[in-house]
Parts: sequence; structure tokens; C-alpha cells
Amino acid sequence: MEKVLVTGGTGFIGSHTVVELIQAGYDVEILDNLDNSKISVLDQISKITGVRPVFHQVDLLDFPKLSKVFSKGGYDSVIHFAGLKAVAESVEKPLKYYENNVSGTINLLKCMLNNEVSRLVFSSSATVYGANSSDSCSEKTPTGVGITNPYGKTKYMIEEILKDVCAANPDFSVTLLRYFNPIGAHPSGLIGEDPNGIPNNLMPIIMKVSRGEIPELSVYGNDYPTFDGTCIRDYIHVVDLAKGHLLALKKLRPGASVYNLGTGQGTSVLEMVEAFSRASGRRLPFRIVERRPGDLPVICADASKANAELGFKAELTIDDAMHDTLRYIAAY
Ligand code: NAD
Ligand code: UD1
Repeated sequence: MEKVLVTGGTGFIGSHTVVELIQAGYDVEILDNLDNSKISVLDQISKITGVRPVFHQVDLLDFPKLSKVFSKGGYDSVIHFAGLKAVAESVEKPLKYYENNVSGTINLLKCMLNNEVSRLVFSSSATVYGANSSDSCSEKTPTGVGITNPYGKTKYMIEEILKDVCAANPDFSVTLLRYFNPIGAHPSGLIGEDPNGIPNNLMPIIMKVSRGEIPELSVYGNDYPTFDGTCIRDYIHVVDLAKGHLLALKKLRPGASVYNLGTGQGTSVLEMVEAFSRASGRRLPFRIVERRPGDLPVICADASKANAELGFKAELTIDDAMHDTLRYIAAY
């Protein structure tokens, strides 16, 4: 049985991936410092799968503790989700982001090399396309130019570090998965997105409005060159995204490979509001406000490479994501 260490495995995408891994028969251990997730996620994972994975409450920046986990672990592969992801905070505290995300990944790579663990799947982001982001980004779209915030730059830097590590270590196998906009929750309603603090992203804000914690959604601009004037994004259900990791794990091969994980379909902010209202049967209060600096009108994935090479195809819809999110909110 393949043994996989999942860093950031109690987080939003990590927890859904852990569920899929366990259900597919992998032996899974989680490492997380619980900076942006809760220990109770382990109970939820065990309710869904019947298995409570071994958990290491360890910070990637704590090299001695991390080394200890690896020396005992006997891992075949690592899926690396652990990182900080709040764009606005990264602008205010750039060093925190470079240290946590970049130095944390370097520590992880050192432990992997020291212990002959040479298979890694990494959570990257469409943000690496920066100013070249377009209606349809393919893996050939240039990266690294015009990334407007330190969070996005850490993803780009880590991608470059991983390519260099592969060049220097011919057995090292890395897959960089560039996610578009993950949304939704597990259909059981037992796990979902639960960020600490004030969220920046659309779905967590919609959830807070729906729970009455925020009076209304601010829609950032309705004068974009799109069919209804609001921005269009490629929202992918987190369970589809999680399944993409299993496909990537199976197809790992020496060198650095890159795949976009998205649906290829765009949805506007107002369509997201409508979908939430349709699923909940309640109108979601919103107000059109100024554009948010740095937002581009349309960003969607060309997901054809993942489809052709990994057999990846997103199957769940925005409506599925809304219903699953509501189930998660209800169980909250
Ligand atoms: P999340 O915050 O829910 O999960 C990340 C987990 O990593 C958290 O549980 C946190 O406690 C843990 N963590 C952070 N720093 C750590 C450290 N130094 N040591 C140990 N654990 C640490 O975020 P998510 O949405 O599940 O995202 C997972 C990954 O995917 C992140 O790397 C994120 O940047 C990337 N990503 C997310 C999105 C998105 O919209 N959610 C989009 C693109 C890429
Ligand atoms: C944002 C980040 C991106 C990061 C990604 C995942 C910016 C400019 N981009 O992408 O770097 O990789 O999150 O963490 O911050 N919206 C509203 N009102 C809100 C919130 C969002 O109208 O309160 C709109 C936005 O204008 C956007 C869409 O909803 O058009 C999605 O926003 P969001 O969830 O923040 O994702 P991105 O902007 O795609």
C-alpha cells in the first residue's frame, strides 16, 4: 500500500484529498500546524471514511521536528498543500509569506532528499500566470510576469525551486497542479472551507453573508467587458479537485510536470450569486461596489492537458457546489 504524507491535510483542499486517498486505499498521514484549520477535521474524516489518519502537529519551519517525522515515516510520496494563502495579508506581511511558503517548502524538500522520498505533488495556482492570465490559460502561458502580490510570487518561486531540484536529482518526480478557483464542500457536509479570520475569496464571503455574519456581498465592479459586467472565473468543485490529485499521484514521473486543474467553464460573480440563491431558496443580499485592484475580467483554465494525460475531467457543477456548501453550513 502506497504511503502518502499530506502536508496541510486538515485544510480545505487537503482534507478532501485525504478522504479520496483513504477511500482509494492509500495509507495516509497528515502533517499540519493547525494555523488555518482545526483538529476536529480528523473526526470528520474518520466519520466519512472509517479511518482516522495519523496526525503530526508540526510546523514546516520546525526543521528538527519535520526531520523526525520523515526519519520514522517511510513515505513513498508527499502531497504538499501546507501554505498561507490570504492575498491581502501577504501584501501587508510579505516576509511571513516568503518564510512560511518558500522556506517551509525548502525544509520539506531537504527532508524528502535526506530520506530518499522522491515523489511530490504540489499545490500551485493559476495566480502564477500573473499578467498573462487570460480567458483561457494553458500550461504554455508564460508564468512569473506581473504577479501582483507576495502570495502569488511564493507559488511562482516554489515552482522554479521544484524545477531546479528535479534538474539536479534525475529520480525526483514532481507534479505542479495549478488550481483555478476551488469551491464547494464534501457532499456529506462534514468537511468544507472554514478559514480563520476574515476571508478574501468569493465563496467564503457568500457563506458569511448567508449566515448573517456579513450583511451583504460587495460585488467588485459591474463594468468589466463581460456579458453581465462582472468578472468571470473558473470555479472547480473541491471534490473534483481532490480527485485530480489521485490521478496526478498515479502518473508521477521523473522531472517536473505541470497541469491546470479547472473546468474550462467560466461563471460570473452575479451567476454565482444567482446559483447560491437558487440552491438556498433565499435571495443573497449584494451591492455593486468599485472594482478590486488587480482583478482581471476573465480567467479560465484550458484543462485539455490534464484531460489528455491524466484522464482528468471535472464532473460536478456550480449547483452541486452550492448544495454541498449549504449542507456544510447547516451542519456547522
Ligand atoms: P487551507 O488554509 O485551508 O489549508 C492549508 C493548510 O496548511 C492549513 O491547514 C494550515 O494550517 C496549513 N499550514 C500552513 N502553513 C503551515 C506550516 N508552515 N506548517 C504546517 N502546516 C501549515 O488552504 P487550502 O485552500 O486548502 O489550500 C491548500 C493549498 O492550495 C495552499 O498551498 C494554497 O495556496 C493552494 N491553493 C489554494 C487555492 C484556493 O483558492 N483555496 C487556489 C490555488 C492554490
Ligand atoms: C484571488 C486572488 C488570487 C488567488 C485566488 C485564490 C486577487 C486579485 N486574486 O483570485 O491571487 O490565487 O484568489 O486564493 O486577490 N469577488 C467579489 N466580491 C468579494 C470577493 C470576490 O465580487 O467579496 C469577485 C472577485 O472580483 C472575482 C471573483 O469574485 O472576480 C472571485 O474572487 P476570489 O474568490 O477572490 O478569486 P480570484 O480573484 O480569482
